[in-house]
Amino acid sequence: MCWTAAWPPRSHPVCDPPPPAPKIYHWGRLGPCLDHYAVMGNPIGHSLSPDIHAAFARETDQPIRYTAELVPLEGLTAAVTAFFGAGGKGLNVTLPFKQAAFRLCRRPSERARVAGAVNTLWCSPDGVFHGDNTDGAGLVRDLIGNHDTRLAGLRVLVLGAGGAVRGVLGPILEERPAAVVCANRTLSNALDLGRDFQGLGLVEVCDFSGLAGREFDVIVNGTSASLAGRLPPLPDGILRKGGCCYDLVYARLPTPFVQWGVRQGASLAIDGLGMLVEQAAESFFLWRGVRPRTRPVIERLRDRRNQSSAASIGT
Ligand code: ATR
Repeated sequence: MCWTAAWPPRSHPVCDPPPPAPKIYHWGRLGPCLDHYAVMGNPIGHSLSPDIHAAFARETDQPIRYTAELVPLEGLTAAVTAFFGAGGKGLNVTLPFKQAAFRLCRRPSERARVAGAVNTLWCSPDGVFHGDNTDGAGLVRDLIGNHDTRLAGLRVLVLGAGGAVRGVLGPILEERPAAVVCANRTLSNALDLGRDFQGLGLVEVCDFSGLAGREFDVIVNGTSASLAGRLPPLPDGILRKGGCCYDLVYARLPTPFVQWGVRQGASLAIDGLGMLVEQAAESFFLWRGVRPRTRPVIERLRDRRNQSSAASIGT
């Protein structure tokens, strides 16, 4: 069986075709009076953020425009400085720049500091860059708000120990699960992660072989394996029947991890589309002080995805 390439791809192999030109989405009046926001990444042509923020702006009647900016791999500092120098109001930063954006911030939020990564930036009138990380809040809001799943009191397994996991682990711990285990392919990376999060709660770490015989209520996949169409080597039986599987990646077709969850009897096995919209809403709130409704946007994107995947498999 052939799995779709990850969507969005997180790496940009040299042989990739050039990404489509970034789209510019306008809402309301066109012109310089619209506050300018943007997402910076490489690649960026796949980004749904302009679409999501345009929907938020329409719904909340905020006069903004939001563009997608392709930034050279070594060019983040110059791009961010130029953007705010030209009067830009706020930025999202996506792969591979989240850690570099953190280093640019003179005033990171506590959750950004814990994650060591930033996905939301703004600049105060004194020219100081502020940054926050809304990824973990997006995950928790999607799980709890949109899917009626709690984390409190449950046994949670987090797969991976890279940047994506660092972004979500703090907010997961804040929900007070009964236990949090982080399993990673490379044990030393998991040990580093456990050490870095020591102050926030108890995180047990292991490699995948250490999962045999354990059972969890919720499993969150924060590895980048899905992006390569792969599944981490997970033993059978580690998901409680009726438990929940959540893949931080979103994709046009069910990811290998989402399919694994279904095979293991999960009552909920989903990818990160809802998290994507929820983290965007959190950024929008930080910038505009207005909280947009997310459900209609998630539903619209899901419908659109269903239609396009149906088309792609010829049904
Ligand atoms: P990201 O920012 O997406 O988290 P990252 O920081 O490079 O990217 O981390 C990728 C994570 O996915 C790591 O935990 C990595 O495991 P290692 O620490 O052993 O490198 C994990 N990972 C990547 N490919 C994987 C695979 N095929 N199976 C299991 N884990 C994988």
